[in-house]
Order: sequence, then structure tokens, then C-alpha cells
Amino acid sequence: MYYPDELVEEVRMKSDIVDVISGYVKIQKKGSSYFGLCPFHNEKSPSFSVSQGKQMYYCFGCGAGGNVFTFLMEYENYSFPEAVKALAERAGVNLPEAEYNEEARKKESRRTKLLEVNKEAAKYFFYQLRRGQGQAGYQYLKKRQLSDETIHKFGLGFANVTSDDLTRYLKSKGYEDKLIQEAGLATFDEKYGMHDKFWNRVMFPIQDINHRVIGFGGRVMGDAKPKYLNSPETMIFDKSRNLYGLNFARTARTNNIILCEGYMDVIAMHQAGFTQAAASLGTAFTAGQANLLRRYVQEVILAYDSDGAGVNAALRAIGILKEVGLTGKVLNLEPYKDPDEFIKNLGQDAFKERIKQAENSFFFELRMLQKDYDLNDPESKTRFHREIAKKLCGFSEEVERENYIEAVAQKYHIGFDNLRKLVVSYASQTGLAAPAVRPKSGIQKKNDPKENLKKPQKLLLTWLVEEPGVYQKIKKYISPSDFTEDLYKKIAEKLFADLESGSINPAAIISLFTDEEQQREAASVFNTKLALLNTRADQEKAFHDIVVAVKRNSLEYFSSQLGTDVLALGQVIEGKKALEELSKTHISLD
Ligand code: CTP
Ligand code: MN
Repeated sequence: MYYPDELVEEVRMKSDIVDVISGYVKIQKKGSSYFGLCPFHNEKSPSFSVSQGKQMYYCFGCGAGGNVFTFLMEYENYSFPEAVKALAERAGVNLPEAEYNEEARKKESRRTKLLEVNKEAAKYFFYQLRRGQGQAGYQYLKKRQLSDETIHKFGLGFANVTSDDLTRYLKSKGYEDKLIQEAGLATFDEKYGMHDKFWNRVMFPIQDINHRVIGFGGRVMGDAKPKYLNSPETMIFDKSRNLYGLNFARTARTNNIILCEGYMDVIAMHQAGFTQAAASLGTAFTAGQANLLRRYVQEVILAYDSDGAGVNAALRAIGILKEVGLTGKVLNLEPYKDPDEFIKNLGQDAFKERIKQAENSFFFELRMLQKDYDLNDPESKTRFHREIAKKLCGFSEEVERENYIEAVAQKYHIGFDNLRKLVVSYASQTGLAAPAVRPKSGIQKKNDPKENLKKPQKLLLTWLVEEPGVYQKIKKYISPSDFTEDLYKKIAEKLFADLESGSINPAAIISLFTDEEQQREAASVFNTKLALLNTRADQEKAFHDIVVAVKRNSLEYFSSQLGTDVLALGQVIEGKKALEELSKTHISLD
């Protein structure tokens, strides 16, 4: 669905961001911006800012940011067209009916197609659950005590026994083999042709935070292996950046999220009224997911399986939560294995009670640690206390550390002064842990080698925004095609054109993207403050390095494309020349 760019821009210009956001969040003018409590994460002092000049918002606490469309998408769970529509109504702008003509179709990106085919598949599975073969699946879900309402809410479905059932249906709807394969819904086999990935399974559509289906999990109804089969990662399905159930959990308006391991656990908890439950996607919990959660809550309650594997997974998750600055607690599900079984056996009140009693994650870690020691043996007990002291060094903030020393001393009957001394002695040997770094942007990818390539590209854009004057100095060397990251290239194309015409329009640049994450990333280009280097000479050096890094990366990128891309050769020749010249040239910032 597309609206013409001019119309989107008209709607945006007629929807003053301060007006719109004031309807949702209490904001107050302070200096040139408005400030308030961020609606996307829990906080006590305002770090959410709205700039009337830039027509953008940005939270210095959690990194949420964007233009007026992004805000509605994040706050109301709207898709981009929905946000445009809502604001158009408010501003009295007439929008044409959504276009589905030939031309609009051609414009559609691969992403949109993948989302579309997934949605179609979800609808098909959903429908099959109510038909003949689907009865087995429906009975299975009933046996697991799911109500019709729950089945509906999560869009559960059924993949038939026939192994090319879905493929045939999707093809009849006009989807190509290639797209169906790319979505991970079928594979191609020389001998048998196209065959469905999922068959004879109950199907769990996996949705992103905007309720769009991005993949599937499918469960056998008996004991066959593998118990669950999941869609592979695709352009729209990044398992480390999505969580099952978060599309509902994010608006639960509780001050915590309950994180568990299984799809069925999430569903059982939601059915019992705990709508803040979410789960990772058949893979271990990641920093990317923790960052996603940080947008909504400050506290995460782990409801992992109570077996050994579950405990280990919980311990790992605690570390990750700590890293991004979230508070972790651990739910005790004993004597049951997982939340689903617990609720089935003891009911929702008992579960609520367990939530109240959830254990501080540090004490949970200590309790697990204790299992390796014999506290009746002084030798072993001493070693245990030393380990505790070591762990206490992990709190870099003094007040917090002292509070923990006090609490631990009491709990484990250790003299406060003794324990404190032990901690100090360890701290002086090994140093206190550095404070957890809170990443600026909402999503943090650790050790992503691409990060090194992306950073200079992003910084260069930020420079151009903060000091538009430098554009004249670099346009000789850098063009939008030097930005090898799609997102940055798109921003560069618009920004360079704006700079050429003399006025930049950040909020309009953000509307180039219809995806919330991309809008957020684009917004961060306009909100990153460049490190304050002391002297102009240092600044010039830093800037020069960034320009060179972008050009060098571009040269390497296009060199690697040689042979497949006719444009590459020209780009490489030009890149070599520019790099040579750049390395000899001083770029003055004045
Ligand atoms: N999982 C998976 N592949 C498997 C087994 C498990 O991807 N072969 C993932 C699924 O996301 C599943 C989660 O791990 O939801 C937890 O697995 P498990 O504890 O084995 O299953 P339950 O959630 O308890 O599932 P059920 O109650 O349906 O048996
Ligand atoms: Mn289970």
C-alpha cells in the first residue's frame, strides 16, 4: 500500500509533533525542546525530548526516536500507512484509497512481499485448523486447554499432511516459487520439486512488534522429533531481534516482562491473564532482544524451565540483562517444569504469588553457585565466600555494592565487615567491573564486523547534519553511492540533495522508511552528538579519518563487485583517485 511521497510529506507538515505527542505524553518546554517521561521505557526523570524545530523526538534513555509517524507506530502499534492515515484524518488531509495498482505493486520491496506471503500462509494455516485435516490440530490445542479465544488471539493454525499443500495454495494466489522458498515456507528438490517446510503440525505464527507475521514455529502433535520446527532466518525474520508474544506484551502496561522459553508457555500465561509474557524464538536470549525489552520495561522476570538446562539458560540471560542495564528476577516454578505446566496444575493465583516472590537475580546466582560448595566444611565455605566477594565486585556503583554486601552478609550469615574487607581486597587486586555500557541506540549488535563499516558512514551523515557547511568540502570526494549500507545510502541520497538545495529536512528523511526500526536508526543519525574534541585540529583529523574510511570501504566494496557489476569499474577508478587525493588533502572545517 502506497501513498505518494508528496502527500505523506503534506500530512507530516500539517501534524505538528509537539501537538501530537502532547496528546499522549505530558511534556514541558525546557530551552529549545520539550521534555517528558519516556513512554517507551520506565523512568523517573525525563529523558524524552521533542524538538519542534526538527519535528523529531528522541529519548536519551532508551534511544527511541523518529518523526511524528514513528511515534504513532511505536505508541499505537501502527504500521506506517496506518500512522499516515490516522494523522491525515486528524489534519484533515484527504488520502486516496490505498493503491493496489500495477505500478504500486512494482514499487513494493522484497520485504513487503515476504511479509505478504507470510501473512497469506498464516491465514491459510488458520483456516485449515477449522477444516477436515485440521481437526487433529484443533483437538490437540484443545487437549492443551487452549480456549477458542486464545487460539484466535495467537492466530494458531494447522499445516496439512500433504507435503505441497501450502505451496500449491500460495501459487494459486500468484506467488512465485522463488518467493515462497525465500520465505522459508518450502524448499525445492530436484526429484520431488517444491515441497512445504511444515506439514502435519500445529502452527504458531511469529509476529513482530507490529503484529506482522515474520515466521512460523510448528509443533508435532505427538512425540516425533523434532518437536518444534522453526522458519529459517530471512530478510524479515531476525531471531535475535524479535520475541514471541512481544506484540501483545509491550502494551500490557505492567512494569515487567515475563520472559520464558516456549511458545506454549507464552500462550498459557496470556490465557491466564499474564499478558506481559514473551519468549525467545527457539534460540538463546540475545543482547538485541534485551535491548528491545529495554524500550518497554526496566524489569524482566525470567520464567525458564526449572531443569538444569533452564537454570543455565537463566544464568546466561541474567548476564545479558545486566549488560544492558535491566533488572532481572527469577521465578521459581517448582515442582513444575515450565509456566504452562505450573498454571495448568496450580492455577493463576498461585502463579501470581510466584511472581510476587520472584527472586532477585543476584541471589539466584548465589543460590546456584552454592550448590558447588559444602557449607559444613569450613574450607569449602571459605571458598564460597570468596566467590561471593568476587561477584560483589561486579557492582560498580558504590551505593548498590554496599547495599548488596549488607544483604548478602545477612542472608549468608557472614560478618558485614569481614565481607566488606574481602570485597575491597578483591577489588584492589582485580579492579571493579566497569559500569555496564548502555548502548545509545535501541538495538545493539555485539561484535558485528559490519559495525566497523557502518560506523563511519553514520558518523559522516551526522557531521553533515550538524555542520552542513562541510558538505561543500567533501562533495568532490563522496557521493551517496559511497554509502554501502542500504539505509545510509537512502539517507545520503536525500540529504545530499537537500544540502545541495541549501536546506535539510530531517523529519522528511525519516518518512523515507516505513519500517519502525529503520526509522529509529535514521533518527539516530540526527540525534547523535559528535564527540566533543577539544581543538579544531583534532576535529579536522577525526573528520578526515571518517571521510577516508567511508571512501576506502566504498572502494573495497566496489572492487569486490567487479565482474558482476558494470557500474563497479567506474566507481573503483574514481574511488582510487579520490582516496589518493584525500590522503594528501587537508580538509579545513572553517
Ligand atoms: N524448541 C525448538 N526446537 C525444538 C525444541 C524446542 O525450537 N526441537 C524451542 C521452541 O521455541 C519451544 C522452546 O524451544 O517453544 C521450548 O522448548 P521445550 O521446553 O522443549 O518445549 P515446550 O515449550 O515445553 O513445548 P511443549 O509444552 O509444547 O512441549
Ligand atoms: Mn511445555
